[in-house]
Order: sequence, then C-alpha cells, then structure tokens
Amino acid sequence: MSSRFVAGMTIEDALRAAESIQGQGIASTLDSLGENVTTPAEAQRSADIYHRLLDAIQARGLKANVSVKLTQMGMDLDPEHSLARSIVSDLVDHAVAAGTFVRVDMEGSEYTQATIDLVRALHAKPENRGHVGIVIQAYLYRSAQDIATLTGEGIRIRLCKGAYKEPPAVAFPEKKDVDANFIRLTEQLLDTSLYHGIATHDEAMVAAAKEYVRTKNIDRHQFEFQMLYGVRRDLQRALVAEGYNVRVYVPFGAEWYPYFMRRLAERPANVLFLAKNMLRS
Ligand code: FDA
Repeated sequence: MSSRFVAGMTIEDALRAAESIQGQGIASTLDSLGENVTTPAEAQRSADIYHRLLDAIQARGLKANVSVKLTQMGMDLDPEHSLARSIVSDLVDHAVAAGTFVRVDMEGSEYTQATIDLVRALHAKPENRGHVGIVIQAYLYRSAQDIATLTGEGIRIRLCKGAYKEPPAVAFPEKKDVDANFIRLTEQLLDTSLYHGIATHDEAMVAAAKEYVRTKNIDRHQFEFQMLYGVRRDLQRALVAEGYNVRVYVPFGAEWYPYFMRRLAERPANVLFLAKNMLRS
C-alpha cells in the first residue's frame, strides 16, 4: 500500500517518477522522506541526499524542485536552529546555482514561527529571492496574518489544509471551517502577483480557485495546483488538460512510515477513499 504514495526507496526511483510525471505535463517537487533527526551527522546525511537531487535535477533538465523538512535538517538539535539554518542555507545556494527552488515544508505548530523566521531570513538574501518558499496551513488561525507578512516580502507560498494533529487553541477543529479558510487564503494568495501553489485534492477547493481566477481575470499560469504522488491522478490529468500548471509532490526513501500514516489518517473513511482512488486511476 505504501508504494501507492511513495515513489520508491532511492534517488533514482524518485527521478524516474519525476521523469514519468513530466511526460504527462506535470512538474514535481522531490521529497527525501525523514523528520526529527537526532544527530548533526544524520541531518548532514539528509542534506547530502538533497544536494545529489539538486545536481540530478540540473543535469537532467527536470521540471522539478525539492521540498525539505526543517526537523530533518536538525531543527531540534540547537535552540537557535543554527544547524538547520546553515544546512538549508547551503541547499538554497545550491538551488540558486542549479536554477531551481527549495520549498520548506511546514510541520506541527510548535515549529511554525521558527520555520517562518528561518525562511524569511534566507529569503532576505537578495540572490535567494524566488529560490526559497514556504508552506502555510489553512487549519491554523494565524495563517492570514502570516500570508500577509510573507507575501509582503515576496515569499512564494504553498497553501495546504494541514496534516498534523493540532489543539483547538491554535487550529480550526471543524473541517468546514478549515475549508472556508482555505478558500479565503487561496483568494488572498491569488490577489498577489507572486507564483504560489494551491495544494489540495479537494474538488471544492480546486473549483473555488478556478472560479476566483476566472472572475478576477487572473492568468491561469500565475499559480499552480499541487497534489501528492498517487492521489487523485485523474484530477491531476484533468487540470493539465484544462491548461493549468500542476506539480506533484514525490516522496521517496526508507523513512516512509510517518508520511504514510499521515496520509492514512487524513480522514476517518480513509481506507474506503484509498480504495476508491485506486479504482479511479
Ligand atoms: P481533504 O483531506 O479534505 O481531502 C479531499 C479529497 O481529496 C478527499 O475526499 C479524497 O478524494 C482526496 N484525498 C485527500 N487525501 C487523500 C489521501 N491521502 N488518499 C486518497 N485520497 C485523498 N501538510 C502539512 O501540514 N505540511 C506540508 O508541508 C504539506 N505539504 C503538502 C504538499 C502537497 C503538494 C499536498 C497536496 C499536501 C501537503 N500537505 C502538507 C498535506 C495537506 O495538509 C493535507 O493533509 C492533504 O493534502 C489532504 O487535504 P486535501 O486538501 O486534499 O483535502
């Protein structure tokens, strides 16, 4: 079942998946799975995989970028996050040289502020502009304010609903409120002139974005839809056929278990949904 959501164990598996997806007119963001490393050596090993990915993306001319998790880059290992900052800064330098982009994924809410601070600091370096971006989660109450701050500085955002278990003190407990906020935040993003990612498999969210773009006369190439590898491939293909930009998040590596469990935990009727999606594609 995990191979439905994970492209394979090796860099080569991920690159093969990216090439195949690119053949269908879909870009990718490559994610070497892993999180919450416990030693600096582990963090550096994780970063080395990303350096190899960036080299391969450039060498093969792939329409791809990378997504990284700060806890995989050693965020937990010192209170100032100096290790993660230095490791990710090197990755962004490499992405600049390779002509591509580093997306910093968003993890649980205990990391939100530190992630935003780190990405803002990296983006403040003029040569990094347009080469590093962040993720914002629609389930958090704070997100509209964060989007205003980040887009004010020109930082590109991937908007998603949010995949971690959060308390009602920080996040909307009800799906309907998360969905309503997702639509509000999508509009907030589309009102900027930056290139953002609308990351969802929810047809109602996709429809709302399409409708907003239509009524506001926004160029449909001014943003991209993003989806996860193996999820709603029919919808991915349909959007490409309609002329929208689509990017798929391609996770790979041995540490697939927490990622896979988040995918399964996404909704109560998960196994049923999974079966339905497998039949659809
Ligand atoms: P929702 O969960 O409401 O699902 C809507 C419909 O989509 C379902 O009815 C079903 O048809 C389909 N679907 C959704 N998930 C499925 C699954 N696992 N299997 C089968 N069908 C499924 N989160 C986070 O906290 N930090 C991050 O950095 C990221 N990054 C990220 C990148 C990209 C490209 C995507 C698409 C998503 C993320 N996420 C994330 C995950 C995100 O927060 C969210 O948990 C999932 O995308 C599911 O939410 P939906 O918007 O798809 O809606």
